[in-house]
Amino acid sequence: MAITYQESTKTFFLDGKGLTYAFCVNDFDYLEHLYFGKTIGHDDIRYVRGCGGTDNNPKIPGVKMENGYNYGAIDCYQYFAPEIVFSGTGDYREPAVQIRTEQGDRISDLLYEGYEILPQKPGINGMPSMRDGETLVVHLKDRVNGFGCDLYYTVYDDAGVIARRAVYSNGGAGTVMLNRAYSFSVALPEIDYDVLTLHGAWAAERHVQRIPAHYGVVSIDSKRTTSSASLNPFMALVKKGATEDAGDVYGVNLIYSSSFVLKAEGLNDDRLLLTGGINDFDFTWKLLPGAYFETPEVVISYSSDGIGGMSRNFHDAYRNHLINPRYVGKKRPIVINSWESAYFNFNTERLKQIVDGVAGTGVDTFVLDDGWYGNRNSEFSSLGDWWVDEKKLPGGLGEIIAHVNSRGMKFGLWFEPEMISPDSDLFRTHPDYAIMAPGREGSPCRGQYMLDLTREDVRDFAVNAVNKILKENHIEYVKWDYNSNVSQSWSLGLAPDQQMEFAHRYALGVYDLFERIVNANPDIFFEGCSAGGARFDPAVLYYFSQIWTSDDTDAEERTKIQYGTSMAYPLMAMTCHVSAVPNHQTRRSTSIATRGDIAHLGGTGYELDTSAFTDEDRETVRKQVDKYHEVEDLLLWGDLYRTEDPFAGGYFGFMIVSKDKQSAHLTAYKRLAECNGPIKRLKVRGLDPKQMYYVKELDMTMLGATWMNVGIKPNFPFEDFATLTFTFKAV
Ligand code: GLA
Repeated sequence: MAITYQESTKTFFLDGKGLTYAFCVNDFDYLEHLYFGKTIGHDDIRYVRGCGGTDNNPKIPGVKMENGYNYGAIDCYQYFAPEIVFSGTGDYREPAVQIRTEQGDRISDLLYEGYEILPQKPGINGMPSMRDGETLVVHLKDRVNGFGCDLYYTVYDDAGVIARRAVYSNGGAGTVMLNRAYSFSVALPEIDYDVLTLHGAWAAERHVQRIPAHYGVVSIDSKRTTSSASLNPFMALVKKGATEDAGDVYGVNLIYSSSFVLKAEGLNDDRLLLTGGINDFDFTWKLLPGAYFETPEVVISYSSDGIGGMSRNFHDAYRNHLINPRYVGKKRPIVINSWESAYFNFNTERLKQIVDGVAGTGVDTFVLDDGWYGNRNSEFSSLGDWWVDEKKLPGGLGEIIAHVNSRGMKFGLWFEPEMISPDSDLFRTHPDYAIMAPGREGSPCRGQYMLDLTREDVRDFAVNAVNKILKENHIEYVKWDYNSNVSQSWSLGLAPDQQMEFAHRYALGVYDLFERIVNANPDIFFEGCSAGGARFDPAVLYYFSQIWTSDDTDAEERTKIQYGTSMAYPLMAMTCHVSAVPNHQTRRSTSIATRGDIAHLGGTGYELDTSAFTDEDRETVRKQVDKYHEVEDLLLWGDLYRTEDPFAGGYFGFMIVSKDKQSAHLTAYKRLAECNGPIKRLKVRGLDPKQMYYVKELDMTMLGATWMNVGIKPNFPFEDFATLTFTFKAV
């Protein structure tokens, strides 16, 4: 059984793959956290309870000082490790929830009421969440004002993660304002952790930062109404001394695409409290009597096998239980995308030449990127005018689609459905569709406004406009872009006291759009995109199968971006393309072999002018695609071991090992050629130590233990930005 309730000790045990999570109901009916870590037994572990801090803390309401409680000084909430921190009760840790009642008090005293174990995991209304698993719901309630909180926990036997969320409800007679409504709290018993986060910018997404946790709060957030490239909704706590391969690591990743916050608070009793969810900056939510509010789900990974183990848990969880199951088992399209070859300058003939350049190489999908609609000749017009620009494509999309299909390939199309250009017929007709506060000039981002998706009529417009094009044409792939950020969060559809619901309602609006476009077109492969890889989060992956990782396609810079992205997201989620040299973002030149090897570590494709391809170029691509197909299953489904860290030195390495450990693939990269450089052994990880493996490229057979402990002596081509690949087969 994954979830057990031990009546004698009032303890809940959640046993997932490689982990145990335990908490109890204490004598104050307070839900007290006991343990989260490597699998343990179900012995009475309540002796690890409250540590009895030296603080001067207010007592738990109702506690009589001389009433015989057997706790000594431990009669304050602050002394117990919490399952959820609430506020107004003398607990000064970062609360997960804060309310305001009609009388103006901000107290919620959430005590245990009961529990349920659900064999079927319920979804969240209008929001994405993990599928499957076994779920525990614990009901908590404030016995004075009726405010309630249900805590949901789901465990899996095939992935070392727990999914958690909270549902807040108003069981009282008056309206309650939620000032803060986070998804979870988790308290670790020690403070000696590092906080690892993923920060970035356009074309530099998900770089890794590792800083010490400290007394007080380390906090990351987004205030952009999207998850953003600045900070990914991901945080890991890495035990001091833990490495990529060993040691305790906890990771949290929010299934959420709007403004979020994640915090690690070092407490004065040396606990480390992790909490977060919807950002409470610019947020309130009005809860009428009887209403409830569902928070986004957070996925919490635990591993004793280091940072790599934490990542593999996320990868298993997302491949098995999150990514849209319609596509998850399918091979990924191999794409030629028009953006970097044509930008806005094309016509049907030019597109045909791009297609003809790679036809027959194994590239199987042509994606027509931005510029095909309205009068879109630059980024300053036409978003929202979703009709074909017949000046570029006379007669519509039919001719180019027929041509693509005649070359044995599928046709894909770019959209940016959440946007509206100031210079568009849509804006001229419906200026109120744009997000903009009354009486102010708007502040466009990339020359565009965003549609007010909190409004149903605006969503209906976007759904109908996109679905019309998809129905009228034979389109088998959609690249869904999102290139802006909200500034003036305000909606015509919201009452003044609900305007601070905007950021969350935008998320609900965009999920509704995903449901009604992605699910209405079950045969189309959907790829997410956001000014490169800005909105790269688990919520998008619930609907889409792959996300464009970054507009930076330079192989050198991609090693860092793909390394960081893999902290939480599996290779199958990342789109990576081979592009032209000099690279359009960095002006750097790298060999086609290197560009291919790095871009093939994900859902792959090409994004360069193939119209001038020679037979030799075609042969190069054909061989690369063949090589990709040889290891495709492994890349999509294997266990990833990050063997060389590009942030730490001059190398990058990804090793992918099949679940049955019968085959493996290693891609290694060396940044700069060195004359008379130091000896290097490439790390090999994840093999069965007792199994013999043949490595084709070295024509050598050795024991897994030997490969892993000795490593590979690399013979990189003598040039900058060089790669080597190795395939391992059990013999
Ligand atoms: C964004 C995307 C690019 C491309 C352009 C088109 O920047 O990340 O891949 O689609 O938009 O405008």
